[in-house]
Amino acid sequence: MRFEGKVAVVTGAALGIGQAAAAAFAREGAAVVLVDRSQAHGEAATRALEEAGHQALFVLADVSSEADVCHMIERVIEHWGRLDILVNNAGIYHQGDITQTTTEDWERIIAVNLTGAFLCSRHAVPVMIRGGGGVIVNVASEAGLVGIKGQVAYNVSKAGMIALTRSCAVDLAEQGIRVNAVCPGTTDTPLVREAVGRAPDPAAARRRLEAVRPLNRLGTVEEIASALLYLASAEAGYATGSILSIDGGYTAQ
Ligand SMILES: NC(=O)c1ccc[n+]([C@@H]2O[C@H](COP(=O)([O-])OP(=O)(O)OC[C@H]3O[C@@H](n4cnc5c(N)ncnc54)[C@H](O)[C@@H]3O)[C@@H](O)[C@H]2O)c1
Repeated sequence: MRFEGKVAVVTGAALGIGQAAAAAFAREGAAVVLVDRSQAHGEAATRALEEAGHQALFVLADVSSEADVCHMIERVIEHWGRLDILVNNAGIYHQGDITQTTTEDWERIIAVNLTGAFLCSRHAVPVMIRGGGGVIVNVASEAGLVGIKGQVAYNVSKAGMIALTRSCAVDLAEQGIRVNAVCPGTTDTPLVREAVGRAPDPAAARRRLEAVRPLNRLGTVEEIASALLYLASAEAGYATGSILSIDGGYTAQ
């Protein structure tokens, strides 16, 4: 029970990596706040945790809206009175090189993936400081470390998250807040299944995603969640500004 007595906020917690992370934090004793813009999936994921005997709260919010983020933080304080861990996981994917990416696409990807993490951190940090410290874990991507072909806006949003991680780690260390990032490689989630499903031959597209990495498979949401929990835990007490790749060896090549 590494997180007994802690309150963990996970954004994008209705599905995929965020859902697995919220469940893993709950199993290890945390009271979890599931934040998502999808009401139906968010409520279902929260109900499943409550039915398993865990403490869970769903807050409907779009992380790219500052009003939604402020309301979300108010709900957390009202409900649990503190905020110890923030996982900035909500994210969207977009394919397209620089000529195929419209200004609207660019702004939408940056708004959700990067500004969303900025806003949640900006409004969570004062609450963490009042509580004596905290931990932020950002879900970046292998795409923030290397230039993956044909997804310029997504790559830039994730590279920005890595810079956000390092900057906040340096700025917030004195206030007792650690800030780290996980860079997942392609992981079997609804986001990836949708992208693969849009390919002319989805099975071949999936095999290509597997074959580009030394471990020759996609990651599981549990594998990414356990890295997030590690960085949020006291075991990683000396880690701040750290960027942890969990990508089947993709960026080691
Ligand atoms: N799946 C992968 O291969 C992979 C690889 C590297 C990084 N990532 C990153 O991991 C994170 C989670 O990805 P996933 O594959 O689990 O995605 P997913 O699409 O399966 O789930 C994402 C969740 O975020 C929510 N969400 C999206 N936009 C939101 C917004 N504006 N406000 C609030 N909630 C929002 C969605 O409703 C959904 O519940 C993303 O940041 C993604 O970029 C995923």
